[in-house]
Amino acid sequence: MPETHVVVLAAGKGTRMKSGLPKVLHRSAGLPLIEHVLRTASSLDPASIVVIIGHQAEAVRAALDGRQGVSCAVQEPQLGTGHALLQAEPSLMGAKGTVVLLSGDVPLLRPQTLVDLVRTHNERRAAATVLTAVVAPPDGYGRIVRQDGRIAAIVEHKDASPAELAITEINSGIYAFDLAPLFGALRQIGSSNAQGEYYLPDLVTIYRARGLPVETVTLANAGEILGVNSRRELADVSAILKMTKNEALMAAGVTLVDPAATYIGPDVEVGADTVIHPGVHLEGRTRVGARCEIYPNVRIVDCVIDDGVIINSFCHMTSSHVRSGAQVGPFVHLRPQSDVGVDAHVGNFVELKKTTLGKGSKANHLSYLGDATIGEKVNVGAGTITCNYDGRQKHRTIIEDGAFIGSASQLIAPVRVGKDAYIAAGSSITEDVPAESLAIGRGKQTNKVGWVARKRAAATKD
Ligand code: UD1
Ligand code: CA
Repeated sequence: MPETHVVVLAAGKGTRMKSGLPKVLHRSAGLPLIEHVLRTASSLDPASIVVIIGHQAEAVRAALDGRQGVSCAVQEPQLGTGHALLQAEPSLMGAKGTVVLLSGDVPLLRPQTLVDLVRTHNERRAAATVLTAVVAPPDGYGRIVRQDGRIAAIVEHKDASPAELAITEINSGIYAFDLAPLFGALRQIGSSNAQGEYYLPDLVTIYRARGLPVETVTLANAGEILGVNSRRELADVSAILKMTKNEALMAAGVTLVDPAATYIGPDVEVGADTVIHPGVHLEGRTRVGARCEIYPNVRIVDCVIDDGVIINSFCHMTSSHVRSGAQVGPFVHLRPQSDVGVDAHVGNFVELKKTTLGKGSKANHLSYLGDATIGEKVNVGAGTITCNYDGRQKHRTIIEDGAFIGSASQLIAPVRVGKDAYIAAGSSITEDVPAESLAIGRGKQTNKVGWVARKRAAATKD
């Protein structure tokens, strides 16, 4: 098998997006468009991937920084797709085998389609193999012109005659090329056409004139080559990616009450018999276990949710762990590095940050728990606040197993509350509380009996 290299075109301006952001960095189903393309490319296990960048090159380069096996080549100015591919020549110097050309704005392509394209290309020892599709209407696409059944040329929409415009077989813009004749031939492409650009599809005519074999592979499902040129198309592609993921989850035993209104990223895993209500967004590397229920309007990013967890409405959770049997929400904010223990309850209007809540512990109402380690079977009363920040540094609060924190208490960190200790409601706790003690940290109440009558009497005297 010849070596495979991939080149991704991503230098174009994307004018119709009307955006300050490069087109290939717009997100669909949570991932930048180019990321979808690179993932598909990696299914070929290529020896190298070269991304052609140009418009806002530095932003695209930064987004690709650190990706294994991916390099960038700059096309400046952008003179057309033929000129764009030529920019990969230095990166592929000395390489042999097959180059697969992809577009950074075509995110739905299936890995199997690329595998089939490359297999046909290699089997037939073609100089070029064009991935085509039959679409109606074919507006905007390059048309496949055939002679005696074989591809003879690709004519761009803007250059096509009325007869050519009627052709419904189109160029997907995805190809496999034999590296040996490629760069020499690219230099022969001219720019005398309607757009004054160096058209990559002109390679077909050049190869045919030289008697080099050009093949085609025709897609069964033209939907795969849907490109993103506008916000409208971005939404269309996102809807397809969403339904693909949702259908896979439903097939695996997950209930989606309203799949059209459920947003689950491509890398998210969900266990069987979990029920997900509308308006739920599961993002990043989130893993949800089996038999969970996630009620409407919840956003979970990069979290691990174990089995049998209930998440009530209006929760926002990032980079946290919720253990089995726990109940969360409504209105809970789990900030990064929070850990809600087995069977723990985190209730209404509670925020956790870098906080561990032990097994069976409860923080049910209106609390801020930051930089805290809370043991098992702790009861955190309504309105408890860990005062973790002194204006310069963060400090930890430690609450040991079985402690009871009375409502409206402030724990001024660093501070430790010992095992089974009690904090009286309304306390400001500034010192450690020994195990099994009661701490009362508030001003003593004095009742002035008869004070109102005395005040009234004083007023009438004047
Ligand atoms: C191209 C094809 C057309 C095909 C269609 C499929 C050409 C001339 N036409 O048309 O036959 O039906 O794709 O979608 O190739 N790009 C660069 N540098 C440039 C120009 C473009 O990197 O100088 C990149 C763009 O960012 C984009 C891709 O190449 O990712 C395709 O360019 P685009 O201008 O969208 O080509 P189409 O007109 O769609
Ligand atoms: Ca395009």
